[in-house]
Formats: sequence, structure tokens, C-alpha cells
Amino acid sequence: MSTWLLTGGAGYIGAHVLRALREAGHDAVVLDDLSTGLTERLPDDVELVRTGLLDPDLPAVLTGLTARRPLDGVVHLAAKKSVPESVAKPLYYYEHNVGGTVAVLRAASAAGIGRVLYSSSAAVYGETGSEPVAEEFPTLPTSPYGETKLAGEWAVRRHAEADGLRWAALRYFNVAGTASAQLADRGATNLLPLVMRAASGDGDPVGVFGDDWPTPDGTCLRDYVHVEDLAEAHVAAVEALLDDTVSSPGALNVGRNEPTSVLEVIEAVQRVQGRPVPYRIAPRRPGDPARVVADASRIAKVLGWRASRGVDRMVM
Ligand code: WQD
Repeated sequence: MSTWLLTGGAGYIGAHVLRALREAGHDAVVLDDLSTGLTERLPDDVELVRTGLLDPDLPAVLTGLTARRPLDGVVHLAAKKSVPESVAKPLYYYEHNVGGTVAVLRAASAAGIGRVLYSSSAAVYGETGSEPVAEEFPTLPTSPYGETKLAGEWAVRRHAEADGLRWAALRYFNVAGTASAQLADRGATNLLPLVMRAASGDGDPVGVFGDDWPTPDGTCLRDYVHVEDLAEAHVAAVEALLDDTVSSPGALNVGRNEPTSVLEVIEAVQRVQGRPVPYRIAPRRPGDPARVVADASRIAKVLGWRASRGVDRMVM
């Protein structure tokens, strides 16, 4: 049994991580400013600390918390996560994602917390080409969002090396699905929620962003990973961080090494939901790469984790 500070624990991914940690016998205190997080995603017996990462009180809050409840580490998910918004408001993203990470690292260290699990993203790679992308590939993000995730990773790694902390960073590919309606992603910009909404009849027809990409059916390929598999990857990472006999896991891709096209996602929803999905072919979206697929071999080797759920499960 261990106890973790979970920043962003009231978010879509954070709430799934919380659930998986508790199912595996660990505990967590959630730190969330509820700017996008929802208390209805949290079980009644979970402690919620409602504080923003940039709140000047953060160090005092964490020091007070650890005096009451010893914490084994921090799982740092809280961040702004819209790519187009990051292009429009880069400083806001640098402030919250890089500044927020620095603030969490400082406050956690001051409170004596020695382990950090950081939420990173496939966006750190930028244009990835036609091969599955492994962790040692060049990181050349194409959006401010991706830059801030990469800068956060660097800050975590350098601080961990300097101060003797144990660390890991999980680079999420395209996260989808839910464990329950209560925990679902309420965002309105990612492909899967849009397709699900179109299938239910209360959304607009899905605009497929281009059908002339250099891919088998002409639509973009992504590596979709079920949020419950992702949550289990966090549990595996937390357990590796608790094992002081192994070295820090470092940066790890969380994906399936399985390309799925936009049209294949639409077909899966039609098949699993048994309803038609109205869609139309729309222009390409600026900045979209044709193909983003993970080489997921390192995480299998280091953590023994591999995804067990496919796209059909994500669209149930
Ligand atoms: C998926 C595919 C679109 C909407 C982004 C970030 C990434 C991560 C996840 C994290 C693409 C196509 C989409 C639509 C479409 N962010 N699409 N019509 O862009 O792969 O990844 O979210 O926190 O860092 O870059 O995800 O869900 O927007 O798109 O055709 O209405 O669906 O072109 O191929 P993306 P997405």
C-alpha cells in the first residue's frame, strides 16, 4: 500500500488513474483546481485538495498535507491539453504546463516527496514518419502544447537527477474509451467522443479531416489506447517507482503499436453501436500528421505492461 498525490485527479484520465490505483490497493489524495475537473468523478471517500498549481500557497499546502499523511510520490497529470488553444495562447500553456510542473516539483521536494510520475504525450515527437516511434526518436514537437509537455519532461528528469528523485514519464498516444459514463471524456474536440455523439444522433455529422493522405484508406492513422489500459500503465509505473532496487523507468510510450484510421474508427462505432454515423469528408486540419503510431516495446520490457483492450472496447 502506498499513497500518491494525484494532480488533475478529477479529470478524465486522472479519475481513471485514481480508480486503478485504488483497485490495485494503493491510495491517493487528489489535487485539482476543478477548472476542467469534475467532483462527480471522485468517490466520496477520496480527499480533494482544491488548489491550482500556480497558487502561491501550493508549497504550504503540500507540506501541511505530508505532515498529516505521508505521501510516497506525485502523479502529475494536471495540465492544459488543447493543441489549437496552445497555438492561440502559447504563454498560457507555458505558464500552466511548464510553470505548473516546476511549481509541483519544487513543492513536492520541499515536502520531502521523492517520486514523480509525469504525464507526457506523443505530441513531444511531432512529425513521426512512417515507422512506429520509439522513445529515443528525435523530439521535435510541432505545437506549443507538445513543447510544454517536452519541457515538463526535461524539468522532471533534470530535477530528479540533481536531487536523487525517482521518476518516470508516460507519453500517451490517443487515449479513448471509459470505464463508466460517470468518468467519460466530456471534451468536444477529440475524434472518438465526436463520433460517439454523431452515432447517438445528437451531434453534427463528423467531418473527416482529409481522405487524400498517404495511408491505405486515405485518412489519418493514430494509435488509440483505452483509458483503462493507460490507467493500468500508471499503476505499473507507480509500482516500479516504489521498487528502489530497479532504476528509474524514464520516458515510456503508452500505445498499442496498432494503426487505426479515421474511417476505421467510424466503422467500429457503427458496428459496435449498431447505428449509422453520419460523416462527410472535410479539408485536412492544419498541423495533423498522417500517421502517429507507438513503438510500445520499451514499456513492455521495463514495466511488463501491454494494452489488452482494442478499439471495439473503446467505442462501447
Ligand atoms: C484523431 C484523428 C484527426 C476530429 C491530439 C493531440 C495529442 C493528444 C491527443 C493530448 C486525427 C481526425 C479528428 C474530427 C477528424 N493530446 N479527426 N475529425 O490530433 O491525433 O491528437 O489529441 O492531450 O497530443 O495532438 O487527436 O482526436 O483530435 O484526432 O477527422 O472532427 O481524427 O485528423 O487524424 P490527435 P484527435
